[in-house]
Amino acid sequence: MESIILIGFMGAGKSSVGKALSTELNIQFLDTDHIIERETNLSIPQIFELYGEGHFRKLEADVLKKVISQDQVISTGGGIVELEMNRQFLAQHSHTIFLKTNLQTIFKRLETDQSRPLWNQSYVKRLELFNKRQMYYEEAANIVVQTDYLSIENTVNKILSQLK
Ligand code: S3P
Repeated sequence: MESIILIGFMGAGKSSVGKALSTELNIQFLDTDHIIERETNLSIPQIFELYGEGHFRKLEADVLKKVISQDQVISTGGGIVELEMNRQFLAQHSHTIFLKTNLQTIFKRLETDQSRPLWNQSYVKRLELFNKRQMYYEEAANIVVQTDYLSIENTVNKILSQLK
């Protein structure tokens, strides 16, 4: 089986669903943010602060290309779809799954979060980012799963039922 790639906004549950899915399938779990942090020896906020978002997007695109062909579950950062190149790349991959979550759920989950540079900004900016990216996720994904009212286990089952 080719890799399963989870995309979606910050707080959509990509990591927790990805871990549970990989356990269910008995394959490896990878998280692009963790790979970048490990390879640079810096945290994501440090990379944003020291080198800017553009640099982070380049690192993210490189990691995506490296891991996509391997047999594993890959959780990506919410902004992986910012680059058109990545959206096209993901769209060509039949197991790209968009964990779709409404804004209210995201706000609840990230209420006290300060670790994400692009969430740590005004309400209007967050809203703009959320709205802009919905189209990007739809464009990049081949499977869409609405997760708001689903447990992690039910989300995993829904994904499994949609994988060919
Ligand atoms: C980002 C999402 C984060 C992380 C970085 C940028 C984004 O990942 O990659 O802070 O642009 O939405 P999560 O989606 O895992 O929070």
